[in-house]
Amino acid sequence: MTLPPAYFDDLYAAADDPWSLRTRWYERRKYALSAAALPREQYGDGLEVGCSVGELTAVLAPRCARMTAWDASAAAVATAAARNPGVAVERRVAPRDRLPVVDLLVLSEVLYYLAPSDLAVLVEQVRTAVRPGGTLLAVHWRHPVADYPQTGDAVHAALRTALDWPRVAAHEEPDLLLDCWVRAAAGDGRAASVAAAEDLW
Ligand SMILES: C[S@@+](CC[C@H](N)C(=O)[O-])C[C@H]1O[C@@H](n2cnc3c(N)ncnc32)[C@H](O)[C@@H]1O
Repeated sequence: MTLPPAYFDDLYAAADDPWSLRTRWYERRKYALSAAALPREQYGDGLEVGCSVGELTAVLAPRCARMTAWDASAAAVATAAARNPGVAVERRVAPRDRLPVVDLLVLSEVLYYLAPSDLAVLVEQVRTAVRPGGTLLAVHWRHPVADYPQTGDAVHAALRTALDWPRVAAHEEPDLLLDCWVRAAAGDGRAASVAAAEDLW
């Protein structure tokens, strides 16, 4: 079963930053990896789903002309909004709330909370939510967590099976998986090349 918003409300009632996103080197390093994987320096519309206290949002916002961040928990929304003036932080639950169309979609540490059936619904939304030429970034913790319906490995396997877009980056560590795609025709190697965008080949 997909974990409901009440599950996260309880976590935020117990701790204002339940995953210590503000203080852990693990998280800061992961955010640097995420930012480095994005093929474009600047985007128009960006969306992060499941923003928590807004630490990754703060890394992404300077890369986007208009940044939106969603979270299922009201407490997280309030904290992320205070941390990120200028970002539209909204209480929304994916995939019940349909994804808007954006140039950059970031799904970081959020998809393993979804049951496989909800993940399939979300992936269908992703196909059209990313504008042609836009970027999808997915990053997830690999170790099983008792409460979570899925593992990061299962989530990335589902994304890799469902999406035939060219991949800019696929990064694997013992603790995390990172995949970055460009919405373009399957096999279009130039669409996924940062160097090609600057006519280096
Ligand atoms: C571990 S935090 C991820 C924070 C940030 N994206 C990062 O990578 O550091 C997960 C957040 O996702 C939110 N969340 C969980 N399920 C969600 C859903 N279906 N829709 C929107 N937000 C959700 C939780 O409330 C929580 O704040």
